[in-house]
Amino acid sequence: MSSTVCQSNSSPKLQTTGRVLVVDDHAPARESILLALRHAGHHACGCASGAEALERLQEEPFDVVITDLQMPGMDGLELIRTIQRRRIGTQVVMITAHASVATAVEAMRHGALDYIEKPFDVAQLEALVRRAVERAALLDGQHLEPPPAEGEQGAVLVGSSQVMQQLRRRVAQVAPTPETVLITGESGTGKELVAQLIHQWSDRAARPMIKVNCPALPAQLVESELFGHTRGAFTGADAPRKGRFELAHESTLLLDEVTETDLALQAKLLRVLQQGEIQPVGSDRTLVVDVRVLATTNRNLREEVQQGRFRQDLFYRLNVLPLAVPPLRQRREDVPELVEHFTTQAARRLGRDPVRLAPCAQQLLQEYHWPGNVRELENLIKRATVLDPGRPYTADDLRPWLIDPEGDSAERLQVPVGVSLQEMERRLIEATLAHFGGHRRKTAEALGIGLRTLTGKLKSYGLTGSAARCTATPEAA
Ligand SMILES: Nc1ncnc2c1ncn2[C@@H]1O[C@H](COP(=O)(O)OP(=O)(O)OP(=O)(O)O)[C@@H](O)[C@H]1O
Ligand SMILES: [Mg+2]
Repeated sequence: MSSTVCQSNSSPKLQTTGRVLVVDDHAPARESILLALRHAGHHACGCASGAEALERLQEEPFDVVITDLQMPGMDGLELIRTIQRRRIGTQVVMITAHASVATAVEAMRHGALDYIEKPFDVAQLEALVRRAVERAALLDGQHLEPPPAEGEQGAVLVGSSQVMQQLRRRVAQVAPTPETVLITGESGTGKELVAQLIHQWSDRAARPMIKVNCPALPAQLVESELFGHTRGAFTGADAPRKGRFELAHESTLLLDEVTETDLALQAKLLRVLQQGEIQPVGSDRTLVVDVRVLATTNRNLREEVQQGRFRQDLFYRLNVLPLAVPPLRQRREDVPELVEHFTTQAARRLGRDPVRLAPCAQQLLQEYHWPGNVRELENLIKRATVLDPGRPYTADDLRPWLIDPEGDSAERLQVPVGVSLQEMERRLIEATLAHFGGHRRKTAEALGIGLRTLTGKLKSYGLTGSAARCTATPEAA
């Protein structure tokens, strides 16, 4: 049992205030954070260690966990990894000293939403926690924000590439129908955003979309979560509770990451989809529900069916209208637009000026293969905004923040047979130059040629543009 007493001095309001767990072994720091959060209306509790926090999280749900990085025993990073491994549905914000930014980035790779550097002021902390609570609410169908009012902008799918235009057209076609849509795509491509858009453009938009985060469903409570329960249905069921399907009546239910369900639950889902009826746990009555179902997965569902991990009949039921969201590397022309969008968004959120990117940084982002897709780009811009050095970012500044900066060279060099040797050379030089952020000496070294030879070739290939310009900045020199 955790030893710290949880105090709440205000009832939590939806969306902007929530349940926050503060993990810090340093009592004065912990207490001052708790004080600030409670003052802002959050229901805030404190823990002195990672182990205590995990116990606490088993006992009650928290929207947000704020953890210090350096703690004796389990450190903040290990806590974050464990939260992710155990699929505890909470947003994590890490507090870090300036020297450990690399670890903070690592934490974000392991699912932390963001980090804040010491020393920070209360306004910064409050803004971050508010955003984390909003994100938690978005991920938790029961706390979803109301749909945007008329004239207000809702979900926006940025990108003018052909494939994105096509996707928007498909969304507009399927949205008004009551049919089930299966949204597929790699992690971070925007599947959930597409689901939001479908709901927003449907005639059910007046009611909130309800989301089920399938991987986070607690095994013992799955049925009650989805179908509800009656009072006394099981130990601890002190009051009747509506399930997600009932909450989504006359609205949309998003089964997010539907492949992360076991076969028994898949059978139950199939029954509901076929019959349009649910039976709350402990009840002998069935309820008729009018629910439009959307499902997402980042796995290959056909393969899951072939491997026996996913019911074929449920696959057919869900796959009525398939929508594939393409990975970002297949629509690189969207990158500048997305950068602009996230830069403005992050600046507005943090109340700062938008960050600036030198041409070499822009080129790096343009040519990178984005294994983490749009989410990786969004996180990078958020991080860049928080750590804004007050001058334009160079490629060298941003490269360490990419998840896999080296991994795309093979893809870049995939050249169809029939390309001339000269063209191959041009592409190789271009890719290497971009990789080193326009740094000519490093490029020449990597290519095994002299700097003068490289300069000559750049000239002859007309490659003396944006990537090469950055060699003048002190960071790239
Ligand atoms: N085209 C886009 N325009 C603007 N924002 C986008 C776009 N695509 C994705 N995003 C943003 O990127 C982030 C990741 O998107 P989303 O959560 O929808 O991805 P996902 O495919 O569901 O990822 P996962 O498989 O990891 O759950 C979100 O913050 C989302 O708002
Ligand atoms: Mg998702």
